[in-house]
Amino acid sequence: MPLAQRVHNLPSYLFAGLEAKATELKQRGVDLIDLGIADPDLPPVDIVKQSLIRHLDDPDAHQYPSSVGDLAVRKAVAGWMQARFGVAIDPAMEICITSGSKEGLANLSRAYAEPGTVVAATDPGYPVYANAGAILNGAGFRALPLTPDNQFMPDLTLAEGARLLYLNYPNNPTGAVADESFYREVAAFADAHPETLVIMDAAYCELSFLPPKPPSLLQFSKNVIEFHSLSKMMNVTGYRIGFAAGQPEAIAALVKIKTQLDSGAPVFIQRAMAEALAAYDGVNPPADAQESHNEYGRRKALLEKGLKDVPGVKQVYPSPATFFVWASVDDDVAFVEHAMEKGVILTPGRGFGEAGEGFIRAAVTTSADRIELALQRLRDE
Ligand SMILES: Cc1ncc(COP(=O)(O)O)c(C=O)c1O
Repeated sequence: MPLAQRVHNLPSYLFAGLEAKATELKQRGVDLIDLGIADPDLPPVDIVKQSLIRHLDDPDAHQYPSSVGDLAVRKAVAGWMQARFGVAIDPAMEICITSGSKEGLANLSRAYAEPGTVVAATDPGYPVYANAGAILNGAGFRALPLTPDNQFMPDLTLAEGARLLYLNYPNNPTGAVADESFYREVAAFADAHPETLVIMDAAYCELSFLPPKPPSLLQFSKNVIEFHSLSKMMNVTGYRIGFAAGQPEAIAALVKIKTQLDSGAPVFIQRAMAEALAAYDGVNPPADAQESHNEYGRRKALLEKGLKDVPGVKQVYPSPATFFVWASVDDDVAFVEHAMEKGVILTPGRGFGEAGEGFIRAAVTTSADRIELALQRLRDE
């Protein structure tokens, strides 16, 4: 049975070979320390879990949800956007609840990207921008390289003429944080280029370990759309819940696509997100969320320091956000293969795009003790 051409057009999955090797080693009983995975190991923030359990008993929480999301939940999201960023968002027109941000980032592109159009995104970047955003829609892809020379900040002029522009700060995989002047520059770009929809992926917005807290792009322009997610913010990647906020036309387009492709996030999970966001005290998350962010920050500092002494690591690029450490090496794939033989899983940078070649990403989603042990293994020749 022939597959659709767009499936053939997807790049071969670089990680598949590495995963096969990891599985084989695990089956042989090798203890692998996984610094590859972007999945929090710390427990869910309590209020999300407790709220979920409570709302499971709501008699009206078991039917098809609406694709745009429960209005009361959208109001809670608007309340959070106001408290956290000081922006007024209309819950009726400017918010759509999503099943995690990956779904929204991908579904939104279907409303805009098509053959003959270009999707631009930062490179290295979250692979969904190029694969779901461009390739699955038959659109062209334009990479905006992030390099040490540009402090991992893109040259926005490269995005001119694009139908969509995906940006992501704090950034996966480089860890880079954008300062306010960058948000202003992006807002000016969005206002000057109505033919380009600017999408800010703010999945790591709350995982920032030093002041100032990252802002929202919506503070600077209403001509954009921003995605937030509870996944990393509250250690609930499996719950699949987040939201999009911003330009009403883009929200309406996302909802139109979603009505054909999904039936919204389960109501009890939406309500759990609403309560978790309402548990913020101004700009500050609930205490256990804050503690888990602090723990990621401590682990990241440990890993940044320790990686500097690992043979083959040329430079570590420290940053105050995300749970990723980005470092340059000679050959990223060879380095990662060698690390796996020593019992440590890392991610080769080229898995995030061409500009990622020659870099590795290490995630701090395992305990400090295991990170110490991983560093020891990597240091041993
Ligand atoms: C940059 C970035 N955006 C979005 C996502 C998707 O997160 P979720 O769909 O869990 O909200 C991820 C997940 O790793 C990510 O790294």
